[in-house]
Amino acid sequence: MFPPASTAPAFNVFNAESILGVLSAAAASSHPIYLQTSASTVRCFSPHALAAMVHALLPASLRPLVRLHLDHCSDPDLIRACLDAGWSSVMIDASADPLASNIRRTSEIVALAKPYHALVEGEIGVVGGEEDGFESYGAPDAIPALHDVLRFIDDSGADLVAVGAGTRHGHYSDHPCSLHHHILEAVHLARPDTPLVLHGGTGIPLDDVARAVRSGGIRKLNISTAIKDAWLASQQAHLASPNPHRIIDSVQNSIAAVHESALTVIHFLSSIQ
Ligand code: 13P
Repeated sequence: MFPPASTAPAFNVFNAESILGVLSAAAASSHPIYLQTSASTVRCFSPHALAAMVHALLPASLRPLVRLHLDHCSDPDLIRACLDAGWSSVMIDASADPLASNIRRTSEIVALAKPYHALVEGEIGVVGGEEDGFESYGAPDAIPALHDVLRFIDDSGADLVAVGAGTRHGHYSDHPCSLHHHILEAVHLARPDTPLVLHGGTGIPLDDVARAVRSGGIRKLNISTAIKDAWLASQQAHLASPNPHRIIDSVQNSIAAVHESALTVIHFLSSIQ
């Protein structure tokens, strides 16, 4: 089932409400998803506590549809701790390194993950903006050369490959998104069996997402900001409500808000495949 032939969204979750909202969207649609956690979220709860929480909230019937994925991480010890605790997919982000070092560090994680039968995502190039302290070191319009991307795919052994193609984490409020389709399409043409990952999924124009899925080999679409926006908006509405001490109302409303946000993405991806 993983990586699925169709494009799966990867939603960043950070507490029980966000986990429940995303899982209920997966259940409502029967669509495969990645439940994605940042390294900070893992450190906040501890790998075993977070994995136990996900395990407790994930019904057995949904398990074939869901992969627990570690988002950007450069620390092999944390990656190993997550694999030990039950993550079935991990990202090693050594993309700030020179290519040879990025390949070496990624292939070390591929070897580490093999006995766990876990997927490994690597990254080449730059995703702009900031996610969990990553990616603010370079300009997102510095697109990697095709031969470097192909060398990274061939030599790292990563199962999933994120290619910096002009997107950025967070909102595109002051920088319109300009997705460089040519690099994704050239990579997909040369390595059609390699699932590519699009980071910075919130706010990319839908036509661009559709083209990247149809012609650019995108099989994993990362969405964090939209989930956080939904959760934050429900918190703000609750604080302005007549009885904010009814905390459980806030919990239920934020589950519903995250569910809606995730389902919108799932429905869009389903409609274009
Ligand atoms: P957004 O912040 O655009 O949702 O991107 C999320 C992401 O790429 C996580 O790695």
